[in-house]
Amino acid sequence: MDQAGGNLTSADSDVLFRTVVSTAVDGIIVIDAKGRVLLYNEACARLFGYEADEVIGQNIRMLMPEPYREQHDGYLDRYVATGEARIIGIGREVVGLREDGSTFPMYLSVGEGWLDGERIFLGILHDLTERKMHERRLQELQNDLLHAMRLSVTGQLASALAHELNQPLTASLNYLSAARRGLQASAEPSAARINELLEKAAAQNARAGQIIRRLREFIEKKEPNRAFEDLNASVYEAIALGLVGVDEGDVEVVVKLARDLTPVFFDKIQIQQVMVNLMRNAVEAMQNSARHQLTVMSFQPVPEMVEVVVSDTGPGVNEDIRRSLFHPFTTTKEKGLGMGLAICRGIIESHGGRLWTEPNPGGGAQFRFRLPVRGGQED
Ligand SMILES: Nc1ncnc2c1ncn2[C@@H]1O[C@H](COP(=O)(O)OP(=O)(O)O)[C@@H](O)[C@H]1O
Ligand SMILES: [Mg+2]
Repeated sequence: MDQAGGNLTSADSDVLFRTVVSTAVDGIIVIDAKGRVLLYNEACARLFGYEADEVIGQNIRMLMPEPYREQHDGYLDRYVATGEARIIGIGREVVGLREDGSTFPMYLSVGEGWLDGERIFLGILHDLTERKMHERRLQELQNDLLHAMRLSVTGQLASALAHELNQPLTASLNYLSAARRGLQASAEPSAARINELLEKAAAQNARAGQIIRRLREFIEKKEPNRAFEDLNASVYEAIALGLVGVDEGDVEVVVKLARDLTPVFFDKIQIQQVMVNLMRNAVEAMQNSARHQLTVMSFQPVPEMVEVVVSDTGPGVNEDIRRSLFHPFTTTKEKGLGMGLAICRGIIESHGGRLWTEPNPGGGAQFRFRLPVRGGQED
């Protein structure tokens, strides 16, 4: 104990050991090569609901749900016989079984040692329940956001469609009027009947035009839900949302947010949708790059404006599409819809702001947007 315990006597270090084990936040379990529990600390009791005397001397299987319960002895035997490690020295996420029959996720790391010539295994158990709940909540939030995004893609499509249909409808109405005028001079016996039919066609035509106008009004008049918000808080939430499903080790995220930003008047869901879109694009752009660095910045270049910058270390924006980048259906992705940036620009402009792209000085792309602090509303 000399190196580890310093000047401690063996009695002292015994006390120290016990204190460490019993005050540890994480569960600590020691088992022998047969899987029998030799040590089970207070944190374990909190995790599993069993007291130490109910577990010590028992096979550790009792703390595992099926199918692990049944397999565990086999794992141990195989490891002792072959040295083939599945978890020892590595650690992984596993599932624990509580006394009340419920299960919970935990991270288990296992070390191996010898005690009085017997092989022992030391497990450290870290409860992941809360983290998992957090991840699930994020996933739900993202689904909501994706849903909102799809709705707004549909909304945009409907609006574009309404606009496109208006023109041929107007033209056809004009042709019908011209035909009716032509008929007035005709002495044909069937002219009156034809005129009547043309009139009906014109009425149906007008009706279709009205339906389309109402649809456009409905889509375009959707009142956004704006309020004075903390931009940085929205940025943080958007980062969490934008990176769901991205492995932590895969992308280095650098966040540089200016302190003391004034509150900004915006629709939080919409602005987060913009940021999530930009971040997802950035992550997608970096897929085949050597460096994976996503940088998100906020600052207030002038008192009446805030600016957000999302930059990446990807290949930069493809020259061929640079000019139409913000138009609907511009995409270089096999499964891309090409609506993301068009929607983003629409949202930012409806807030009285501006969205644009620039090359990232260190390589890659930057997407930046500015929002007026007062959201373009009158004082
Ligand atoms: N960070 C970026 N780096 C390089 N190119 C980008 C980046 N963001 C967007 N682009 C380009 O703009 C196109 C349009 O993006 P977007 O409107 O979001 O549609 P989608 O992601 O469905 O392709 C992308 O296909 C891509 O070519
Ligand atoms: Mg996109």
